[in-house]
Parts: sequence; C-alpha cells; structure tokens
Amino acid sequence: MRHRMKLEKAREKIANADRQMAKLFEERMEAVKAVADYKKEHGLPVEDKAQETKKISEIGSLIGDPELRPYYASFLQSTMEISKRLQQERLRRQAPGKEQENAVLRMELGPDSYDIVLERGCLHRAGELLDLNRKVMIVTGELVPRKYAETVAGQCTEPFLHIIPSGEESKSFAVLEDILVTMLNAGFTRSDCVCAVGGGVVGDLAGFAAACYMRGIDFYNVPTTVLSQVDSSIGGKTAVNLRGVKNMAGAFWQPKKVLIDPDTLSTLPPRHITNGLAEALKAGLIADEKLFSLFETEDAATDTEKVIEAALRVKKKVVEADERENGLRKILNFGHTIGHGIESVTGMLHGESVALGMIPMCSDEVRARLIPVLEKLGLPLSVRADPDTVFAAVMHDKKMSAGKITVVKVPVPGSYKMESVLPEDLKDLIKMVVHV
Ligand SMILES: NC(=O)c1ccc[n+]([C@@H]2O[C@H](COP(=O)([O-])OP(=O)(O)OC[C@H]3O[C@@H](n4cnc5c(N)ncnc54)[C@H](O)[C@@H]3O)[C@@H](O)[C@H]2O)c1
Ligand SMILES: [Zn+2]
Repeated sequence: MRHRMKLEKAREKIANADRQMAKLFEERMEAVKAVADYKKEHGLPVEDKAQETKKISEIGSLIGDPELRPYYASFLQSTMEISKRLQQERLRRQAPGKEQENAVLRMELGPDSYDIVLERGCLHRAGELLDLNRKVMIVTGELVPRKYAETVAGQCTEPFLHIIPSGEESKSFAVLEDILVTMLNAGFTRSDCVCAVGGGVVGDLAGFAAACYMRGIDFYNVPTTVLSQVDSSIGGKTAVNLRGVKNMAGAFWQPKKVLIDPDTLSTLPPRHITNGLAEALKAGLIADEKLFSLFETEDAATDTEKVIEAALRVKKKVVEADERENGLRKILNFGHTIGHGIESVTGMLHGESVALGMIPMCSDEVRARLIPVLEKLGLPLSVRADPDTVFAAVMHDKKMSAGKITVVKVPVPGSYKMESVLPEDLKDLIKMVVHV
C-alpha cells in the first residue's frame, strides 16, 4: 500500500513538471518564432551549428546530476531540432492572402537528371536540399543583394565567395579565369562544387566554370532574377561571350539541382521583373496557350509563381526531347533572331529585345493579342535604331542554308512553325519594330 502511495506521488510530480514544461515549451517556441521572423527579414539561415554547440555545453552544465547530463544533452538536441522545423515552416510560409505553391519538377535526362525545386524560402533549406558538406565556390554578382549568397554560405562547411562585377561584360574569359584560379588556389578537387546565386549572367558564367574545372565538377544553380528563374537556370547551357559575340564559347553542363526561391524577387528592380516575364510569355506563345492567356487575363507580375512553374514546364519538356539543340530546342529561340540583333545594337535587356523580336514573328491574329499584353507589362513595342545595322547584326551570328534563314513563327498561341525566310524578307520584318 505504502509503495503505491509513493508511486502516485512520483507520478503527480512528473505530471506537475510536465505542465510546467508545457508552459515553458510554449514560451520557448514563441521566442523561436521571433527568431525565425528576424532570420526571414535578414535572409539568415535556419541552421546555426556554432550556436547549437555553444548552447549544449553552456546549458548542459546547469544539470547537477552527472548521470542525467548526457540525457539532458539529447533532450536539448531534440528540442533544437523541433525549433528548426518550426522555423523552416515559418520561412516557407507565404505572404498572407497568397496561396502557397511548392513544386519539384524533375528534368529527365537519363544519368544527368535533376530536380528543380520551386518553393518560397527554399534558400534557407539549401543545406538540406544540396550537398554542401564540401568546398563550395559560391559565385554571385556585385548588385545581387549579398544576403542571398550569405544565406547559402551559412549552410556550407567550407564556403568560398566570389563576387563578379554586374553586367553582361562579366561573361568573359578574364572573369572565368579569376573564378578558376580562386578554386585552384583553394585546392578544389573533383568532388567539390560550384553554386551560382544570381541572375543569368552569374549562372551562365558559374556553370561554365563548373564545366571547365578539372573537366567538370558538380554545379548548383540558385537563380534570383525572373529571367533566370523562368528560363536560363535550367537546360544546361553555359557560356561566356567572345569578342563581342554572345555565348560564343561554352558547354552543355547540366546542374545537379536548381533551387528557385521566388522570395528573392522581392528585391529585383521592376524593369528586370518585366524583362524576365518576356521569356515566360515566349514559352506560352510557342507551347502553352493557357500560360499566354494568363498574361492576358491576370497580372503576371504578381502571379509570378504560377508563371514561373508554367514556363519551366515548357522549357523542361523541350530540353528533355532535345538536350543539345539538334532540332526541337530551336523553338525556344522564338523572338531571338531579331531579338539578339536588337540586343547587341541597342544594349536593351535580353528579355526586352526578345519581346520586340517576337512581334514580327506572329500571325496577324496573334500579334493583335500580343501587343496589348506587352503594353500591359510595360514592355517596348518598337525601338529607335538603324534597321540596317540591326539586320547586319542578325546576319552576323545566323547560319544560312540555301540562301535562307530559318526562323520560328507562331501561327496561333501555344503552337509554332519553322519557316525559311530570305534575308530581304527578314529585313522587312525587322523594320516592323526598328525605326530610325
Ligand atoms: N543559359 C541559358 O539558357 C540562358 C537563357 C536566357 C538568357 N541567358 C543569359 O542570361 C543573361 C541575362 O540574365 P538576367 O536577365 O538574369 O541578367 P543579370 O544576371 O545581369 O541580372 C540582372 C541584374 O539584376 C541584379 N540582380 C540579380 N538578382 C537580384 C535580386 N534578387 N535583387 C536585386 N537585384 C538582383 C544583377 O546583379 C543584375 O544587375 C544573359 O547573359 C543571357 O545571355 C541564358
Ligand atoms: Zn532568351
């Protein structure tokens, strides 16, 4: 009987302690939420190994009974695991009023297949999603907010940060060499990796560095512009420019994984938002009528996740069917023939130039629907330049076959046709959007 009383008493003590611990747990987790919100605002990673180790040794010493110390350490460890889960959950959460959209798309390319993770806040999960327990060369741009690269660096065991000057000029052999030399001096081996954190310029360059170093090491892409999130980060085209000719030296080098965090777009200037949307519009026009009509009926600039996912699905399908651009992949160049000419002559942004380049390549009916969309987005409908100079630039990097140039045209939204045109006809098409 007395034994039973003792047991009851002990159980009551445990229940009391549990009640107190429940209150303390709530109090603790409220503070964890505040930490998560701070981290989200300042782009800091959830994982903080140094802080964890410090805590275990500091708080662990408060336990007087040496028998209990290791148990307490593991109790504290699991409490911290739970805290991390809570923080990750909060970081993933969308802005109020917006639907959460997470997607993992798989680029199926046999042994070179990879996942494309599209998820708000996934930058904070880079340590979980990528293998960063090795030397990681993080390449970023000087105008890319530093917090993005630092968030990734905070989750690496041995990070190296390489910051390139902003602008297309960085896609050069000189900058490529700088990156490779930094890796050489840091003792990078074949089992280390490169991670791009930035727009298409950073991605194209860092990808090429990964393709070159020791004949190819792992590459991760974390795109932070609309253009790179909807288009350039997937598909494995990497390159630098050569004597002013765009993407003249490069390689096909697929990333091992792509992390797309739409939260990073919050710092992107509006001009770069619409610039990138032009590539998504292109994807809709050639292969996804629904995506194109989304541009007509909704505000694509605020519905970015939907647009990004749909555009990625188009590109993914095309690349899966023709990785090396022997045929079908050419359709992704819709708007690019004239677009590239405009880009090199006027210095307009890539997406803006492609938007102009698409106008003459549509049927009259499609053009009648495209123009209001371009106006709504604030993309240009024409540009002041000499059509002959643009024509010369177009001819400079285009191969002719039997005196004609092959272009992609869109007869109805969501479809394409390849057409061979005579150079003089191409000049007339250019004149539709380029005037002195
Ligand atoms: N590999 C491919 O398949 C492919 C496809 C299309 C385009 N491209 C290439 O992509 C390049 C263009 O890419 P882009 O439009 O991303 O340009 P970009 O890389 O120059 O980025 C645009 C600007 O935005 C800044 N920036 C990037 N992320 C930011 C952020 N989150 N907040 C604030 N500023 C940010 C950059 O520093 C830069 O100044 C071109 O070189 C083009 O040839 C490649
Ligand atoms: Zn393009």
